[in-house]
Amino acid sequence: MRILRGVAESQAACREAARRGSVGCVPTMGALHAGHLSLVARARAENDTVVVTLFVNPLQFDESADFARYPRTEEADARLLLGAGCDLLLVLRQEEMYPPGFATRIDQASLTGVLEGAARPGHFAGVLTVVAKLLAITQPARAYFGRKDFQQTVLVRRLVADLNLPLQVVVCDTLRDKDGLALSSRNVFLSPADRARGLSLAAALAAAEDAFEKGQRDSAALVAVLQSVLSAGLDGAPDYAAVVDPDDLSPRAVARPGDVAVVAARVGPVRLIDNHVLGGRIGPIAPKP
Ligand code: PAJ
Repeated sequence: MRILRGVAESQAACREAARRGSVGCVPTMGALHAGHLSLVARARAENDTVVVTLFVNPLQFDESADFARYPRTEEADARLLLGAGCDLLLVLRQEEMYPPGFATRIDQASLTGVLEGAARPGHFAGVLTVVAKLLAITQPARAYFGRKDFQQTVLVRRLVADLNLPLQVVVCDTLRDKDGLALSSRNVFLSPADRARGLSLAAALAAAEDAFEKGQRDSAALVAVLQSVLSAGLDGAPDYAAVVDPDDLSPRAVARPGDVAVVAARVGPVRLIDNHVLGGRIGPIAPKP
């Protein structure tokens, strides 16, 4: 595995790899866990060269304290990636990604202001801008994203379609801990009590899936199921609970298989999000590291 730190050398190495075969790219902010590694494994299986980018993107943090405390574990990340069969690790620097004079933002009119976007102003413009840059640097045939960040996958698919970017977006299942909590780099900040509260997100989604399987198609009723499990498990109301269209995020009146139940809540110092595709299975349990 080669570790590259400069944008120009990263771009040159990826271009060279693309000449030899297909490049699969996994964009990350580091602090890697089994969820990230499942994306790398999928990229490994489907491409000749696997590129992982590691960049804690300041543009997508709506709270500077969250950016400052975001876990940074570069050495451990590099070891995990070596074991996972990564070929090129790009550790990009803020000064090079956003040099003086940097002025461009990519935004989407209708998709960035709802759900997570409503709670985190500017977050998705930051994500879209950096993803566009990372795709331009790595020029992959395929890029891998986790369904755990469902709205992000919708926005990135839209970005790639709207700008005619020549690559395939591959969306991968959410990996969960044994107790059902979706793996996330920020879970390290949860106390045991927070964690217990956080489990209500997965429990709410499981209850909604159960109701859906029994024939409930009225979205308001499904949202009521989500709300009641969440309110019982959290100390307070969730930020949102909704059933939405998988392509444009609009709320559904009548739910169909493939629609997505989405939930978010503040738990202790962390904002947790989770989702479930109705009519599907709940994501796999992560193997023990
Ligand atoms: P990050 O939070 O590091 O996540 C990198 C990728 O791993 C994302 O596609 C995310 O959805 C996926 N992922 C996270 N938890 C997962 C889980 N439990 N199961 C499966 N996949 C999971 O998402 C970002 O970084 C950034 O926004 C980024 C796209 C890199 C742009 O900065």
